[in-house]
Amino acid sequence: MSILKDKNILLGITAGIAAYKSANLVRLFIKAGANVKVVMTPASKDFITPLTLSTLSKNPVYSSFTEDGDDSQVWNNHVDLGLWADLLIIAPATANTMAKMANGVCDNILLATYLSAKCPVYFAPAMDLDMYKHETTKASFEKLISFGNKLIPAGTGELASGLVGEGRMAEPEDIFNYIEKDILDQLPLKGKRVLITAGPTYEAIDPVRFIGNHSSGKMGFAIANAAAGLGAEVILVTGPTHQKTGNNFVTVNPVTSADEMYNEVHKHYKETDIAILSAAVADYRPKNVASQKIKKKEFTFTIELEKTKDILKSLGEIKSHQFLVGFALETNNALEHAKGKLKSKNLDLIVLNSLQDKGAGFGVSTNKVTFITSTNEIIENDLKSKREVAQDLMELILKQTHA
Ligand code: CTP
Repeated sequence: MSILKDKNILLGITAGIAAYKSANLVRLFIKAGANVKVVMTPASKDFITPLTLSTLSKNPVYSSFTEDGDDSQVWNNHVDLGLWADLLIIAPATANTMAKMANGVCDNILLATYLSAKCPVYFAPAMDLDMYKHETTKASFEKLISFGNKLIPAGTGELASGLVGEGRMAEPEDIFNYIEKDILDQLPLKGKRVLITAGPTYEAIDPVRFIGNHSSGKMGFAIANAAAGLGAEVILVTGPTHQKTGNNFVTVNPVTSADEMYNEVHKHYKETDIAILSAAVADYRPKNVASQKIKKKEFTFTIELEKTKDILKSLGEIKSHQFLVGFALETNNALEHAKGKLKSKNLDLIVLNSLQDKGAGFGVSTNKVTFITSTNEIIENDLKSKREVAQDLMELILKQTHA
């Protein structure tokens, strides 16, 4: 999954021959799952048609302050466009447009949108080699960079003039990769490893039967995706579940029993920065596992159970630099029990899960949780989607770890 998924991308196109390549850039953004709107300078329409770009972007294309051909002369709101955008990318950026951007000139809708936008701005220049080297172009670059805008440098190659040199717009794939990498590099958990457990565990009784529970794994998978969205490399150790992540930054390690989960988690813990144990691990397992299917001979049947290893507790005991988060599922004296677990398992944060509230707990897509920090700060939350709970949790962890 690309980090650009669901991002609102505004692509500004100016009047250079490289504008034809911008069609491919739109396709790359759309393929990555981004929402794309295109804003063109009027002159750029000589190089690529708005119809091509609106077809590819699946959105109207803006090239003037009013909607063309509309008798009511509906105003195209550049302020709304600027505020809609998570990213503004101007590719190709001509010497003319860059000089105007550098000096606050605002004589077309692209420039007005640029002035209104509060989001990060990238620009990919394209022009002939002498123009690229000209002092005034260099001055534009410097000024735009000083505003915090990001230059995606032009490449060297054959130019429309027939000359060979610097000034070719970076290839669409390179622009795409540059932006993706730039965003990833700035994420707060970049370079951090997060270990997460999810789902139930199955404890074998015989070759065909097991003791399990109703955990769906939804909460743990949502946390894994939220952590990956913040740039972390995520190791997700999960019991049997139908959940899928589809995120390149999440490595899924499936396990079945509590014992397997224990071993897998301990393999990764040393290199972990943040460990979040949301799995509903079986507390007991059959003491003896029958090697053959048990026949129904007896009228009553008893299975002797023994305790499984407490994975969370074992991590608390050997904790060094890790930030350790546990979950607690309580039905009575919830706060008191959760605080007790926070202390006895040497945690930095505990997420108290409620089974009392409608819409919270196993199987459903919503959850109602209370966060308790190691300094006894209690943060109560409303019923939210598990995705939102995961995001709230990761934000709190960021705050607590000052990441
Ligand atoms: N947990 C674990 N290994 C186990 C049991 C639980 O890592 N064998 C973790 C869970 O993933 C969760 C936390 O411990 O993060 C709390 O689990 P919970 O069942 O609420 O508490 P327990 O400590 O098992 O205590 P009790 O069942 O007595 O309430």
